[in-house]
Amino acid sequence: MTPFVKAFFDEATFTVSYLVRDPKGSACAIIDSVLDFDHASGRTDTTSADKIIQFVKDNDLAVDWILESHVHADHLSAAPYLQEALGGKIGIGSNITMVQDTFGKVFNEGTEFQRDGSQFDALFEQGDSFHIGQLRGDVMHTPGHTPACMTYVIGDAAFVGDTLFMPDFGTARCDFPGGSSEMLFQSIQSILALPDETRIFVGHDYKAPGRDEFAWETTVGEQKALNVHIGKGRPIEDFVEMRDARDATLAMPRLILPSLQVNMRAGQMPEPDADGDVFLKIPINKI
Ligand SMILES: [Fe+2]
Repeated sequence: MTPFVKAFFDEATFTVSYLVRDPKGSACAIIDSVLDFDHASGRTDTTSADKIIQFVKDNDLAVDWILESHVHADHLSAAPYLQEALGGKIGIGSNITMVQDTFGKVFNEGTEFQRDGSQFDALFEQGDSFHIGQLRGDVMHTPGHTPACMTYVIGDAAFVGDTLFMPDFGTARCDFPGGSSEMLFQSIQSILALPDETRIFVGHDYKAPGRDEFAWETTVGEQKALNVHIGKGRPIEDFVEMRDARDATLAMPRLILPSLQVNMRAGQMPEPDADGDVFLKIPINKI
């Protein structure tokens, strides 16, 4: 089946959110939403999420799922805001518990921060499936960028999160805690084992040198032939050497500290203090 896919691009964080719709009905899923956040002022804004809500309402759609490909380190998730407005279940990979454990320590969270994934409505394992109306989604565990990364294969479309980017840009970094370039290589092989005509929708686009337009849709066949990091059957040793060397030069994402604290809670802010005020932490020399 060929789902209808609508992309929403957030130029502030280079994130692509997707709305995936059952072509035979009104059911849909939202993947990797964005809550706008101004780091300097600490203010949130719902302009990006409101565009998705408007689209759902304009088209009389029913949201079955609000999915996260992983715990993002570069933008905040709008999943709870969307759920409040539209319903649907929030799902992520079951290895979220590892991510919660790691960053629960980094941010010195108390025992009130549960590390069992219970903030989410569904925790997916490799091989699980789910439905968007009549449309079936299959879950692939594709770790490497983070330990909890999932690829959602829905009809002929694969939502790969931060594993592969556009062929001219390459692949995602693997230097966050629990990341591994060897694991990413293996995960990408399982994505590239899908049929060549499978549509691939990537989680970010930063434009590549020589390309003026943002882009987010490609195919398995194009990735195999053209991906600058992993195409043409590049051997694992070459890939790992290239990836690790490149990662050593990358700065931390601008929003990593707020993003992790919010996204490991399924997009919820930490509990307010006695006055009802909400704070995020800045751990010093920890990341
Ligand atoms: Fe990411």
